[in-house]
Amino acid sequence: MTQQPLATPPPQVVAFGTLSVSFDRRVLAPRTWTTSQSRWARELLDDAPSGAVLELCSGVAHIGLLAVHGTDRRLVCVDADPVACEYAVANAAAAGRAGLVDVRQEPLGSFSADELFPVIIADPPWVRSELVGCFPADPVAAIDGGADGLDLARACVAVIDRCLHAEGRALLQLGSYAQADLLQAELPDSLVLTKTRAEPGRGLVVKLVRPDAAEEVDGRGHHARRGDPSR
Ligand SMILES: C[S@@+](CC[C@H](N)C(=O)[O-])C[C@H]1O[C@@H](n2cnc3c(N)ncnc32)[C@H](O)[C@@H]1O
Repeated sequence: MTQQPLATPPPQVVAFGTLSVSFDRRVLAPRTWTTSQSRWARELLDDAPSGAVLELCSGVAHIGLLAVHGTDRRLVCVDADPVACEYAVANAAAAGRAGLVDVRQEPLGSFSADELFPVIIADPPWVRSELVGCFPADPVAAIDGGADGLDLARACVAVIDRCLHAEGRALLQLGSYAQADLLQAELPDSLVLTKTRAEPGRGLVVKLVRPDAAEEVDGRGHHARRGDPSR
């Protein structure tokens, strides 16, 4: 008996903030709570130096596209998954930004750019490998962050360190305060974690800046916390 090729799953469309975003079950479905990461990045853009926004582990690009919506900023998206990148291109076109979005299908480790970025958004897989089975609907490569969930977050920090503008801000998504504490302890001297915003029961987003950038860090050297995620 000859094996039939697997049929391509049908595209689905969801609202993400003011955008309509396409994806299918081969990629992670857009999570509504992550509009808060877009909104935070959008706030930062008001005072940011000129230049493009970099989105790492961009998936179908909705977080970055919503962040730059209403601005004339270019968006550079990086993701290793070809299906996610195809949808990122389509979603950029649907958002009316075809000429302003550069989708780079490649692993984080090989990414390089000849510009520095005033705002970097990063959404790496952050589920610990032993817990990946708890999320059967999600593609493993989109959520598996290794033994402590931080393998890809560390790869994002390496890119952020190479590519962040001197007055830039990076917003990195993680799964828990415990992960934020671990990562904070390992940061290179050239980056400081200054703030955390969390969604109860979901994930959290930490802000990374250069040590010289004018930025409030709380007096104990710990990041100021908001919200209470348990994972
Ligand atoms: C948690 S998902 C986030 C995707 C999207 N931002 C979202 O909210 O749905 C992580 C993304 O990282 C990508 N990824 C995993 N390993 C990667 C690597 N080594 N280099 C680049 N992208 C990677 C996956 O393809 C996936 O799209």
